[in-house]
Parts: sequence; C-alpha cells; structure tokens
Amino acid sequence: MRRGVRSPAPSNEQLAGSALQRRVEALLERMTLEEKVGQLAQYSVGTPTGPGTGRSDYETLVRTGAAGSMLNVVGAQETNRYQRIAVEQSRLKIPLLFGFDVIHGYRTTMPIPLGMAASFDPALVEQAMHLAATEAAAEGIRWAFSPMVDIARDPRWGRVAEGSGEDPFLGAAMARAYVRGYQGPSLSESTSVAASVKHFAAYGAAEAGRDYNTVDMSEVSLRQVYLPPYQAAIEAGSATLMSAFNTLNGVPATANAHLLTAILREEWGFNGFVVSDWTAVAELKNHGIALDGPSAALKALSAGVDMDMESHLYAPELPRLVREGKLPMAVVDEAVRRVLRVKFALGLFENPYVDEKAAAYVATPEKRELARRMAEESIVLLENKGGVLPLAPGRKVALVGPLADAPVDMLGTWNGKGDPRDAVTLRAALEHRLRGTPGALRHARGTDVLSADSSGFAEAVAAARASDVVIAALGEDTNMSGEAASRTRIDLPGNQLQLLEALAATGKPVVLIVFSGRPLALTDAQRHVAALVQAWQPGIEAGPALVNLLWGDVDFSARLPITFPRSLGQVPLYYNHLNTGRPASQTDLTRPASNGAEKYVSRYLDERNTPLYPFGHGLSYTTFDFSPPQPSAPSLQARAVRGQRGEVLRVKTRVRNTGTRPGTVVAQLYLRVLGASTAQPVRQLVGFQRVTLAAGESRELEFPLGFQELSFFDARATRTVEPGTRYDLWVGDSSEATQHASFTLE
Ligand code: NOJ
Repeated sequence: MRRGVRSPAPSNEQLAGSALQRRVEALLERMTLEEKVGQLAQYSVGTPTGPGTGRSDYETLVRTGAAGSMLNVVGAQETNRYQRIAVEQSRLKIPLLFGFDVIHGYRTTMPIPLGMAASFDPALVEQAMHLAATEAAAEGIRWAFSPMVDIARDPRWGRVAEGSGEDPFLGAAMARAYVRGYQGPSLSESTSVAASVKHFAAYGAAEAGRDYNTVDMSEVSLRQVYLPPYQAAIEAGSATLMSAFNTLNGVPATANAHLLTAILREEWGFNGFVVSDWTAVAELKNHGIALDGPSAALKALSAGVDMDMESHLYAPELPRLVREGKLPMAVVDEAVRRVLRVKFALGLFENPYVDEKAAAYVATPEKRELARRMAEESIVLLENKGGVLPLAPGRKVALVGPLADAPVDMLGTWNGKGDPRDAVTLRAALEHRLRGTPGALRHARGTDVLSADSSGFAEAVAAARASDVVIAALGEDTNMSGEAASRTRIDLPGNQLQLLEALAATGKPVVLIVFSGRPLALTDAQRHVAALVQAWQPGIEAGPALVNLLWGDVDFSARLPITFPRSLGQVPLYYNHLNTGRPASQTDLTRPASNGAEKYVSRYLDERNTPLYPFGHGLSYTTFDFSPPQPSAPSLQARAVRGQRGEVLRVKTRVRNTGTRPGTVVAQLYLRVLGASTAQPVRQLVGFQRVTLAAGESRELEFPLGFQELSFFDARATRTVEPGTRYDLWVGDSSEATQHASFTLE
C-alpha cells in the first residue's frame, strides 16, 4: 500500500463550505427549540438492534419534527413513506436521514470485515463497500454505521468479526477504504452514503473480551495503537462518528469530552456529527455517572454526542434543560448545525425520495463476481502439508461437517439485508464442480455446530473411507460472533474436534475449512489435518470461492489480520507487543524451566509464547523470497523528519516467485524503533503491497516511509521522532519476516 501526502478529505471540506453554512444558518433561525432537539433524536423502527425501547408513534414524531433520523427502516417504500411525512407534513420539511448497519454489504453480502481485512487489498474493499452503498442508497438509506475500526487483540470478544483485526496500520488502510467506498467522490451523489466510523474509542479493548466491558489504557497506547484507524477514517472524510459503549479510563465514551471534543474536533478538525451507540446515553446511569435521565442527556450532549440513538432522552430532556438555564442554547445549536450540514451535503433536501421501482434488487453477475473475488482474497491457507492442495482432478471427495451446507452461516454477523437464499454453499459449489463424475462427491453432516451427539459420525466416517480426500467444514455459526457474542472458549464448538479425529483416523487426508468470526484455538485440530483453511464467514459466494481456491484455479493470497493463539491462556496475544525486560527466546520453551536463565523470563510453564499462526501469515500455492530491505539513506536527521507530511525515506526490496506456478504474495514491511524514550513494539507494520508474479518472475518494490510511519508517542503522549534512535526493518510475507536492515536517526 502506497501512502503519500494525505489528500484533503472531500466530504469534510464539503461540510465546512460557506454556501452550505448559509443554508444551515437560515434554517436554524427558523427552528423552535423542540424542532432543533428533534434533529438530535434518532428512533429505531423495524427489527431492533439493541434492547427494546420501541414505541408506536413514529409517524407523529416525524410529522411534528420531533425525529431527525431513523434506523432499521428497510425498503424503498418504507423510507419513502416516512420521508413523505417529514417533507410534506412537518412544518419545516426537513428530510429524515435513514441509517442502517451496512457493515459488509447491504444485500450482496461480502465476507465479514475481519475476512475482508485478510485481503490486504483496500482497493477491492473500497469497491465492495461502494456496491454496498449503492444498494443501500437505492432504498433511501444514506447512512451506514460503518466502518467499525476497533483494534481487537482478544478473540473472546465477538466483535473481532466486525473490524480489521489487531494492527493499526492495516486498520487505518481499511478504514480509509470503507469511507471512500461508502462516500464516493461526493456525499451528494445519489449512490453515496455517509459513513459512521465507530466505536469511538478503544471499544475493542474490553476487559476479558466481554462485550461492553470496561477499558483502561494509557494515553500512549490509546494514541499509538487504538486511535490511528479512527483518525484515518476522519481524514478520509467520514461524515459521522459513533461513540462507544465502554468507559475509557473511567469516563464513559458517551460522555467523554477528551475523546469527542478535544481529540475529535480540536485535534482532528472533524466537521461531521457524532451519534451515540444504541441507548448509550441512558446507560450513563448504569455507569453511575448520571443520576437521572436529564443529567445523562446533559453530560452526553455537552461532551460532544450530537444525536441520541434510541435512549429517547434528548427529545424530552434537552428543552427543559435549556429553559432551566442548565444547558446553553449555543450547545444545542451547534449539534443541530452538525446534523443539518450532513443532511444538506447528502443532497437530501433536493432529493429526499428514491425510485421504488429502480430499487428492486437484482443479483447481477457483476455483483456476484465482486463478492467472489472478495471471498477468494479473504480466505487464508494456514497449512498445506505435503502439498495436498490444490486438489487434483478426479479425486473422490467426502464433504463433511455442519457448515458444508449452511447458507445462513456463510453470511456472518450484521449481514444487513443479506438473504441466505443468495448464498452458494460449499456443498452446492462442489456438486456443480464435480457434476460430471458420478460418485465423486459424498456428503455427510456428521454433527451440528453445538452438539454432543455423535450419532452422525459413522456416516461421515463411511463417506471418508469411500473417498480419496475429506473436506471438513467446521467452526462457528453466524450467531457465535458479532455484538453480545463473547466466548470463554475459542476451540471448535461442540464435538466437532471429535468428529475431526474420527475422520483423521481413517487415514484419508483431511482438508479442514474453518468458518468463524474470530481466531479459534486450532492447535489440536491442526495436528489431524493435511491442510487448514481459514474461511471466516465468506459471504454469498462462499462455495464458488472455496472451490476455485481448493482446486487451484485461483491462488490463496489472503494473510491473517489477527494472531491465532495456540491456546486461550495466551490471550491477549498480538505481534506488535513490547519486549519486556526479560524476553523469552523464541526457541523451544516447552521444557520445564530448569535454571535461572530459562526460569526468570517472561513465559508460561505450560505453553510457548509464540502463536500458532502469526499476524500476516498465509500460504500461497507457490513460494517467494525477498532480498534484504534497502533504505534509501543509512541515516536521517530527526529534525528533518519531524512533522513532515510526505515521504522521507524509501525502502526497496526485490521479491521473487521461486515456485513453479503464478501466485500472489502480500509483501510486508515491519520496523522497530530502538533507543527511544518510550519502549516500542518488537515490530510494527509500516507498509504492505499485494504482488502477483509468474513463476520465476521477480519485481522490485518500494515502500515510502514518512513521519507517520517513523514516529511514535513519547511519555507525554506526543507523536515524535527522536535523535539517537535506530530503526530495524524487516521485509517478507508475515510478521515473522527475516530479511533485515537498519538505519538511524541522528
Ligand atoms: C449497537 C452496535 O454497537 C452498533 O455497532 C450498531 O451500529 C448499533 N447498535 C445500531 O444497530
């Protein structure tokens, strides 16, 4: 991924435009206090996506100007119906803004975001999310509650599925891609939707991986690890932002002026508006920082939450607070301005309705093709012992497992308006692939996802015995990850491991395909299989994508965006950790510690420190080598680097396809800063590029590095570079890359 000088974000600029401001001011002048507060209230109509707070007077709310936005209204007819009430029957005719959880597709369901991140292909993600925007906008939904950019280091947390994994650099690249995809060249295009980067901030660091839980972290970690993807989304122009549920260092994100005002507005210059998460304003009472509804509303708005999602507190409480002199009108006015700016920028006043006939969904071959490519690029080959893959033509296949033919479970969490009938399962795709050869495919379910019943094993084992190779489709169902779906065990659920063992006992090679919304602990499973494929939840083209990969029509090119631990006890386990003062050597630590040198180091008695599969890992059908990285200068002046917006150093490497087939590699550049005033990670990703090479072909790659990549945060939490530091570089195709060089900062 090339990163040059940052271009100004068109939509953020657009929101600051003077013509737009004039329209906002003119409208604001005409608004009563109740109408102003109405613009700050959002109601869910339709299937709720949080604890029920339903009411039945939505039409009245809209007619009286008491609702500014709705979520979960689906379908062009429904959005038009409410919009007509707003635009034709309310006094000021202010259009509604309809929001929805468009997360990895609207109707054309792509892989879950964690899977899309594995593509290391922001350009393709941008394309995929532009399709999502087009489909949503056609139904009047001009606001996507995405991207979810929360860095996640704990696979117990079910929402790892919704983000781009553990790395800030990859996370930032994906954040930009989503925002560009949703918002297109201008918010006013009829195919654009406003993005809502979420959940601000550090929601992914919930203690013990339990959803909504407390977050406590240093300002240095917050800024260095967690904030970069949010900032990248804001810089790419995200028109809105959603605040998080969690407390951060004791202050709930929903009432956190440090985050929502000091960082977001004052440092980052955000011109859009902030929406709370679902009922999060009211939850300030549960957090114990608000005694009652009025104080919750006051705290949230004053901190910078402009719109109240489903707490039903702003509308009744804010006018009262203003009249009692507890809340300045100017604070309300400013929040209203922010909301109206986005509505004007989206062109809602000019074009409030959508064409109901044109909105009818057609799964065109182009849409399916994009979903297939996205799936092919997201599925990671973790093991391929003895080159069992690609499967040779003519081999008889036993397809086993609860996820071999489970359309709903291909869609994954937050699948929008996704329809399982659109999903092609592995079984359907295999039947198609092997249709000419009678007896080439045997299918047996074996067990369910969460079952202790082994009565189906015998049929599965018989199918395996009668075949040349077993494909086992195991893992989690769609509901086992996503919101409120944390787990304390991350093994294969139910008795699936036992099924796998029974299959392996036949002696037939087993290709294990894991469908999951999180890294599972696959240490035991891995021992029994010849090949291991991490498929996530790959979307509607799951089956065709997998078949293309398994038979080698397409190369595996995805790489892990998150570490796969050996066991849950290692969690949180991430590649960009600090070294400690007593790092364990990376050699065999499975022996009991016998002497001081081995004993008094940072380690476990019963497990290695290393992961089962590291960040950035993923196999291809060919092999690659890299020449050592070459920085364009052996040393740089810290002074000259500090604050620079553009490139200050260029790192070259040559990558070669050393195998006999064409293939795609994700070239990754990592660095470590030594000698700085704060301890820095043992490695951090600062560049990546997907490269496709013919057998024997080589290519020179260049990675530009600027202040952003070279800098870190000092103890005062200021981004800086320091003289007297050394930078170690590694290039290769995983976070365990070995080709090395260094340079210094004088
Ligand atoms: C709660 C979730 O945390 C958030 O991600 C989502 O956008 C809202 N509900 C709306 O459904």
